[in-house]
Amino acid sequence: MKEATTTEEMNNAYISCDGLVRIYKAEGVEVMALQGLELEIHKGELMAIIGKSGSGKSTLLSILGGLDKPSAGLALFNGENLAELNDRQLARYRYEHIGFVWQKITDNLLFYLTAVQNVELPLMFTKMTRKQKRQRAIELLEAVGLGHKINAFPEQLSGGEQQRVAIATALANQPELLLMDEPTAAVDKNNVVNLQMLFRKLNREMGITIVIVTHDLSLADRVDRVVMISDGKISSERILKDKDMVEDTQALTADPKAPLPTLAEDLHEEFSVLDKAGRVKLTDEMRKAAGIDSSRVKIDVIDGKIVISKP
Ligand SMILES: Nc1ncnc2c1ncn2[C@@H]1O[C@H](COP(=O)(O)OP(=O)(O)O)[C@@H](O)[C@H]1O
Ligand SMILES: [Mg+2]
Repeated sequence: MKEATTTEEMNNAYISCDGLVRIYKAEGVEVMALQGLELEIHKGELMAIIGKSGSGKSTLLSILGGLDKPSAGLALFNGENLAELNDRQLARYRYEHIGFVWQKITDNLLFYLTAVQNVELPLMFTKMTRKQKRQRAIELLEAVGLGHKINAFPEQLSGGEQQRVAIATALANQPELLLMDEPTAAVDKNNVVNLQMLFRKLNREMGITIVIVTHDLSLADRVDRVVMISDGKISSERILKDKDMVEDTQALTADPKAPLPTLAEDLHEEFSVLDKAGRVKLTDEMRKAAGIDSSRVKIDVIDGKIVISKP
């Protein structure tokens, strides 16, 4: 277990994004996918980043995975600025530290290879013998609950099972950080629960830091922390109140036929994120609830509280 134990370790961010900006230029049009994003991720965390389509989730994940570089701002991994690494160093960073599960299953798996052959692929450049590679691939497939289907081709597997093979493949090089982009997009509801449990198992038992990007709120139910991204910035976050409570409800949902409970509201406490320039995001829901329909608001400090209201 690599969970941070002291406050000092907690304060020492494993991954830190500071004023992250990513601008795409396509046919003369500029799209600002990340707009000064601030985010810290601690070692041993199981966290999710949620946001609508186009909010910048995949862009952020690519930068964290060393596949893309920010246009401005910092992305630090163990204090090292990823933007300063050259292509060779980035390739090494990916190979040594990162496991990536892509959104499209065809980007994760080769369909003409069996499950076990897929998992063996990333071990190609290691000094392991054929036998050792096979052994390790089988162990990984067992760890993700697919020990009985090692010789199946992806086509013969369900969406959830294919995702498990993709995860086993991503784990082959023993990464310390697993990044997953919409890992449940092609998975049915009951199997989403099973995958959630697998994520927790990998996180708790192997100590792997896991970052899941998704637009599916139910997937984010059982992670330690959920951050919401909107318009390329983190707008709010929810932190799990009591980790043991989740462990209990996990046991209850071990039956795949059990209805999917939605517990996010009770399990997580929600916070808005205040950025370094002092900005917070007022969501559409908040503005609606407060009857704020213009671009001007009134801000008062009353009894040590900041009250934002309709002028
Ligand atoms: N390669 C690209 N070229 C131009 N625009 C892009 C590119 N990739 C993403 N974008 C734009 O950047 C924004 C954020 O995209 P993305 O990170 O894929 O969001 P998400 O994963 O949350 O759906 C979107 O407006 C998208 O259209
Ligand atoms: Mg995406």
